Amino acid sequence: DKVKVFSPATIANVSCGFDTLGVALDDLGDEMTLTKRTDNQLVITSIQGADLPTDPDRNVVSWVIGKILKDINTGTGVDIEIKKGFKPGSGLGSSAASGAGAAFAVNELLGRPLKTNQLIAYAREGERLVSGAPIADNVSAALLGGFILVRSYEPLEVISLPVPDNLAVAVIHPQIEIQTAAARDILPDQISMSSAITQWANLGGLVSALYEGDLPLFGRSLRDVVVEPHRKKLIPGFDQLKEVVMDHHALGFGISGSGPSLFAFCEGMSKARELTQLMQQEYVHTGIEAKVYASVI
Ligand code: HSE
Repeated sequence: DKVKVFSPATIANVSCGFDTLGVALDDLGDEMTLTKRTDNQLVITSIQGADLPTDPDRNVVSWVIGKILKDINTGTGVDIEIKKGFKPGSGLGSSAASGAGAAFAVNELLGRPLKTNQLIAYAREGERLVSGAPIADNVSAALLGGFILVRSYEPLEVISLPVPDNLAVAVIHPQIEIQTAAARDILPDQISMSSAITQWANLGGLVSALYEGDLPLFGRSLRDVVVEPHRKKLIPGFDQLKEVVMDHHALGFGISGSGPSLFAFCEGMSKARELTQLMQQEYVHTGIEAKVYASVI
């Protein structure tokens, strides 16, 4: 009558796959513990690591759990304990970790009445609650793990992609806030044919690289000519940091989701740790504090 789950941080877009690619981080995420109650109430008993609402109607975790319990009509009540491993507004899928973790955990607690696609659908509703848009990339990666491709939104079709051996990532989270809605508002409605060609060529290259375990091709494909040119303006020091990181043999560098976090993929955890140190030192000149993380994929 009690489950404890880990729900990972995720990098959406992965440069060339705006709203379609996502990847889960093994070493960064939230913990959630759900315990059945004897009544039918939903109670958030504690939240550690972030300043989030404890009102069950305003918290994504309890909101998703409440929606599932109502739809399944169990009359079950749940105590919810939340430990956030990273902050909301980071671009690392904080609300997705909450919504996906909540859906997964309550499904376990109830003996798995729901299929993965249904869990994704509930977690997307959590995304809608937070950002206004039911984006599927972060929540799908959080629920399925590894790399995912949202092949279609209507109807939803999510494909799991293989993870090459020894792939790691270094992440820097500048302590500024970017609202997903604002980072979407600045994007153009239309793109040129030449940008589209470059983007889908890279997306195809990246998918092929994952299947082949071809890290150099993976790196060459980590380019974004559609979204990054607009969003990088919201992140001080982006170009300089990219140059330094790429000079130090990262496979690729880009904006995590809607930012402000930035990622550098590389081979192996020791390289990822080296890159986190480098990024943190380099970022000092912006005068903006930053947190760094290294993770295997
Ligand atoms: N794909 C989304 C975006 C992720 O970049 O706006 C944020 O939820």
